[in-house]
Amino acid sequence: MTLQPVLTEDGSTTLFIPELNEHYHSIHGAVQESMHIFIREGYEQIRNFPACIFEAGFGTGLNAFLTFLVSEKEGRSIHYSAIEKYPLEDHLVRLLNYPEKTDPAKAEVFQAIHDAPWGQDIRISEHFTLHKIKGDLRKVQLPDAAYDLVYFDAFGPAVQPELWTEEIFRMIYQSMKEDSCLVTYSVKGSVTRALKAAGFSLEKLPGPPGKREMTRATKKDQ
Ligand SMILES: C[S@@+](CC[C@H](N)C(=O)[O-])C[C@H]1O[C@@H](n2cnc3c(N)ncnc32)[C@H](O)[C@@H]1O
Repeated sequence: MTLQPVLTEDGSTTLFIPELNEHYHSIHGAVQESMHIFIREGYEQIRNFPACIFEAGFGTGLNAFLTFLVSEKEGRSIHYSAIEKYPLEDHLVRLLNYPEKTDPAKAEVFQAIHDAPWGQDIRISEHFTLHKIKGDLRKVQLPDAAYDLVYFDAFGPAVQPELWTEEIFRMIYQSMKEDSCLVTYSVKGSVTRALKAAGFSLEKLPGPPGKREMTRATKKDQ
């Protein structure tokens, strides 16, 4: 698959896959989108720290890096697990300008997040531990009742319908603690139906610029 770097409207980079006609992030602003959906409507809603986060689709590492930046500022401890089936090649990582657009002093941390070996806990800082899983979301075995927050950031349901299924959401639901939540950019009918069928309670929230709505799905006591 060929990946092409693209500049989004907030000046941050993303990647485009011509074969799928799909971007890794919103063209209206990659950093802006991740900050809105995953940090403000996800991370900032967590009350319990230390917290365990699971990300479906590690990709460019943008969500991991932004989570590191906010948690570091507050001195809050995070264990961050992320799965990725197709890790990016180094030359593409070098084209990403996320440290430059957020906190240039932390450029080495962004690189360390990418250089971290797969399949083990890596201490990125005193407060931030990263565990990258190289594998397929459809086959992964997640621990029971482990996560306080899930970032669901697969490619769109039109491109990868096999990842937005009731079966996958049930598996993720099982891996989450009570009252924890999953955030995602999609509000597609088939996605919200699959989330509900898996047991989640849903909220539609205002989306980032260029996207009217997003979804927060909470695991509530049955
Ligand atoms: C929308 S992009 C992720 C964006 C990412 N969160 C970021 O901040 O760059 C979706 C990611 O899911 C990955 N992916 C696709 N199929 C997958 C699968 N079956 N299991 C795990 N990851 C997968 C893609 O390679 C891609 O990196």
